[in-house]
Amino acid sequence: MPAITFIHSGGNTDHIEASDGESAMQAATRHGLDGILAECGGNAMCATCHVYVDDGWLARLPAMADDEDALLDGAAAERTANSRLSCQIKITPELDGLVLRLPERQV
Ligand code: FES
Repeated sequence: MPAITFIHSGGNTDHIEASDGESAMQAATRHGLDGILAECGGNAMCATCHVYVDDGWLARLPAMADDEDALLDGAAAERTANSRLSCQIKITPELDGLVLRLPERQV
């Protein structure tokens, strides 16, 4: 199972196992991870699943769609060049070891 490391804004880390085909958001919420709200349930409508992708991983993710791009502009925390919506990151075996940083707030 691919593993994902989430780094909280305070520096704590959580290592979780994801299933192939689920999103990083789904893996996080299935494990009860604090810091991902996912209010819209993964429909790219809320931006409360905002994450910062660790530098080495950003280029390995599929390009973002226009709706994700637009929604990130309204995220509660600052948008940066490595911002993504975790509900739009589909986990594959190639993403084993993915590192995602959590923003200070989601709302
Ligand atoms: S869960 Fe709502 S945009 Fe990702």
